[in-house]
Amino acid sequence: MGVTVDYEAEIRALKRSMNAVILAHYYQESEVQDVADFVGDSLALAQAAEKTDADVIVFCGVHFMAETAKILNPTRQVLLPDLKAGCSLSDRCPPAAFKAFKEKHPGAFVVSYVNSSAAVKAMSDVICTSSNAVRIVNQIPKDRPILFAPDQHLGRHVMKETGRDMVLWPGSCIVHEIFSEKKLVGLKVEHPDAEVVAHPECEQQVLRHADFIGSTKAILDYVVKSPKSKFIVVTEAGILHQMKKSAPHKTYIPAPPDNGCACNECPYMRLNTLEKLYRCMRDRTPELVLPADLQGAALAPLKRMLEWSA
Ligand code: 13P
Ligand code: SF4
Repeated sequence: MGVTVDYEAEIRALKRSMNAVILAHYYQESEVQDVADFVGDSLALAQAAEKTDADVIVFCGVHFMAETAKILNPTRQVLLPDLKAGCSLSDRCPPAAFKAFKEKHPGAFVVSYVNSSAAVKAMSDVICTSSNAVRIVNQIPKDRPILFAPDQHLGRHVMKETGRDMVLWPGSCIVHEIFSEKKLVGLKVEHPDAEVVAHPECEQQVLRHADFIGSTKAILDYVVKSPKSKFIVVTEAGILHQMKKSAPHKTYIPAPPDNGCACNECPYMRLNTLEKLYRCMRDRTPELVLPADLQGAALAPLKRMLEWSA
């Protein structure tokens, strides 16, 4: 008979012996969120990674998030339970094509969404996340044309909010682009008392039905504070875990995608599991390593983001 491992207890013990901090995104499975020291959106996780004095950062999120942590705090060891946890936005913006895009628009100010590779970040003037994109774009000198990559839907939302024109890279997230407008409208009819909260990576025809649009953290804060007690949630279903923990008396209805599933999960985020988290801490692998020159080049635009978000 095989020995059963109490992953949670083992992870907590390893955390102490390694002097590690576990950072997790809201799209991680509930058990992973529950064992983390900090759960947040991309901006909050980057800020937490930058300021931690733990020796090891165990990043339960996707590759670009762990890369960001390494760039902002290069002397720490950064572990990621599954190195294959990528992101469709980052994958759809290859550095060579991005370089050519940039060269077609000389003199433009380049804003890259944090959901991009370190190589793309290194070619950018400033980075943004979904929680600070409007604030960042509002600080760009009015006489500079703007390139925005790689999420066209977030880009369109930011254009609407800031009144700035931007040239958009045609990228999108495979999770947020498949929410069904038809099914969302059906849910609204079925639950006229519910508020619709959505992530700005959704398409415009979905976002136009939203009562509130924001980052995962902004959505979470909104539903907790809202006087309403029912919400249709149009983003990855992992966020429902913290909603239920923070405001358990309220009702959360995950918006369905167009693929027949009841709710929408990010296949990359869900590659991380409690077992892989335990193994990566026990074996100290996989580790996120970056070439020093790339790490250095991507730091300035990330630092500028943190300064402009303060
Ligand atoms: P947030 O920064 O809003 O958490 O978004 C991250 C992400 O990957 C959304 O798909
Ligand atoms: Fe990338 Fe979309 Fe997954 Fe977020 S939900 S990590 S944008 S693929």
